Amino acid sequence: MNQEDTGSVLQPGAKRGEMIAVCSGKGGIGRTVLAANLAVALTKKNIQIGLLDGNFQFGDIALSLDLHPTCTIKDVAEGIADMDRYTFANYLIHHSSGVKVLAAPDRPEFADLITPVVIDRAVDLLLAQHDYLIVDTGVGLQEKTIQFIEKADQIFLLTTPEMAAIKSTKLMLETLELLGHRDKTQLVINRSTMESVIKASDVSEILGFETPLYIPSEPQLVAQSLNVGIPFVANHAKTDISKAVFKLAEQLVSRREISLFKPAKQGSFFQQLFHKTPKTTT
Ligand SMILES: Nc1ncnc2c1ncn2[C@@H]1O[C@H](COP(=O)(O)OP(=O)(O)OP(=O)(O)O)[C@@H](O)[C@H]1O
Ligand SMILES: [Mg+2]
Repeated sequence: MNQEDTGSVLQPGAKRGEMIAVCSGKGGIGRTVLAANLAVALTKKNIQIGLLDGNFQFGDIALSLDLHPTCTIKDVAEGIADMDRYTFANYLIHHSSGVKVLAAPDRPEFADLITPVVIDRAVDLLLAQHDYLIVDTGVGLQEKTIQFIEKADQIFLLTTPEMAAIKSTKLMLETLELLGHRDKTQLVINRSTMESVIKASDVSEILGFETPLYIPSEPQLVAQSLNVGIPFVANHAKTDISKAVFKLAEQLVSRREISLFKPAKQGSFFQQLFHKTPKTTT
């Protein structure tokens, strides 16, 4: 099937959710932890949340939520010719929080089956059915990750206050700028309270990014959460790390409400809502 055969699943004027791509230049930086916990935190807002594991070779979103997928995006790829929004719903795994998950293939060799056409169709179908779509992407700037970046409304670019992570993040930011996606990029400093010669507060200066978000370091809690497959926002809601994720969810939802309320504002969604306080017109 070629690109033109995909058709659009979004009718003009139809509801479209907001897509957030969780990215990082370096692996093992916390993309899966943030994607899974943010998705579950957003369900507390009584809205529909989709979660796509875009790490097609070694995705571990299902593991992080203690899900045992019977279907994955590989099945979507195999059934793409007859896929519509009703059949597509059968491929989503329901988490107890309400998050609907499209899992990554269960073996790395299946990743090649997930073509750009499949990604395009899966993302559009997920956006048609959910208020937010969180995508845990592959590491760095692989072709498929770039496709997610291009389709996303916001990019959460994760780093930690460590030199190797900062170096990769700087290169990612420069590339995102070249691709014209800097405006929709939000820097997230994960493990901001970890012991490091580089202070979290210096990271934004090094990277030339004024308004990062901070997620504290809680190694034991996060490791335990991943091991048992229960997101910490679900059972340790009062901890600092959960509060940081809930705050992020709150900001996303309130910004979206503002943007939907004021659709005619100039500039990018991200510029308006992250960097500038909207001026009152009264
Ligand atoms: N805020 C945090 N505090 C402490 N440890 C954390 C935090 N976030 C992530 N970690 C730890 O970092 C490790 C990597 O996390 P995670 O698997 O989410 O990263 P990733 O970017 O998805 O990695 P990969 O590139 O392998 O997909 C895990 O062992 C996790 O326990
Ligand atoms: Mg991961």
